[in-house]
Amino acid sequence: MSNKLKVLLTGGCGYIGSHTAVELMRAGHEVVIADDLVNASRSVLPRIEKLGGAKAPFYELDVCDEAALDALFAKEKPDAVIHFAGLKCVPESVTKPLLYYRNNLVSTMNLLAVMSKYGTGSIVFSSSATVYGEAEKMPISEDQPTGACTNPYGMTKHMSEVIIRDTAAAEKGLGAVLLRYFNPIGADESGLIGEEPLGVPNNLLPFVAQVATGRREKLFVYGNDYPTPDGTCIRDYIHVTDLALAHVKALDYISQRKGCEVFNVGTGKGYSVLEVVDAFSKACGHPVRYEFAPRRAGDIPAMYADPEKAERVLGWKAVRSMEKMCEDTWRWQSNNPMGYEKE
Ligand code: WQD
Repeated sequence: MSNKLKVLLTGGCGYIGSHTAVELMRAGHEVVIADDLVNASRSVLPRIEKLGGAKAPFYELDVCDEAALDALFAKEKPDAVIHFAGLKCVPESVTKPLLYYRNNLVSTMNLLAVMSKYGTGSIVFSSSATVYGEAEKMPISEDQPTGACTNPYGMTKHMSEVIIRDTAAAEKGLGAVLLRYFNPIGADESGLIGEEPLGVPNNLLPFVAQVATGRREKLFVYGNDYPTPDGTCIRDYIHVTDLALAHVKALDYISQRKGCEVFNVGTGKGYSVLEVVDAFSKACGHPVRYEFAPRRAGDIPAMYADPEKAERVLGWKAVRSMEKMCEDTWRWQSNNPMGYEKE
């Protein structure tokens, strides 16, 4: 058990940030949230506080605004930062690369500079398995090559990793953990917080959930001619609460040491699109309508993690099943068919 820390969550109103805020509070830490609300709702804040059982000071700011970030640090003097803030829509990153490079890299560099100025010595970074690009060898371990990303979004995650790693090497007072997420899905079992993508969901689970509530007519399964058992793509889906708990463990780890360490955060088990549709149909109690459609550019047949290092070094392991991921998603979606209240 680590000592109590004051932790700044950039992007803390988002899907993974909000779940991590709750788990940090439940573990006894103090949470400060910064978010520009471009892709999140302020309505999540009282729900985080209700679930976490504590108040969380909130700052509406863009992490690219160094002066605003500096003012927050001057006031709050956080012990550690978990950096979630960033644009994350893969297709949008292809059409607007400069927006993504500027936003995701300037925010990371601003954060590191302000942390150095105020002596905040620990950062956990929200990275992504997308940094592996079209990995050949499955399961994927952390020592596999990164950087051959298939889209600008993935490149911003890879470049941010490099920037953080080099800064931690140069600044002896900085400890960093890079968490490479596989496919986060699910929701806190309370049904109070969950994933609420803006507009039409790009990702599988939110789209399936919106078909299940009748908000969307049917799911288009992008390709059923892949070299997999049922022809549809395989991914390593991980419950967002397991993922949030990995951040608590990473914080405990890095608050006691310096340098830079990277971990895959996945279950090590892959599920195909059709297996997920089947699991969700069972969870919601009725079939989820779908139709096969052409492959989506950039998709690779199968991707799943070797999670051994996180278990060995952090003492963390994903424990929630696909059934639990679907049940919890369904509870959130059916309780909140239109997501959070619009303020
Ligand atoms: C999963 C599978 C689709 C939607 C992406 C990002 C990655 C990370 C996680 C941020 C694929 C299929 C999907 C649909 C479908 N995000 N699918 N119909 O592509 O593995 O990863 O989200 O870090 O960076 O790339 O996840 O949920 O988009 O797709 O058939 O309407 O579901 O083809 O096989 P993906 P996904």
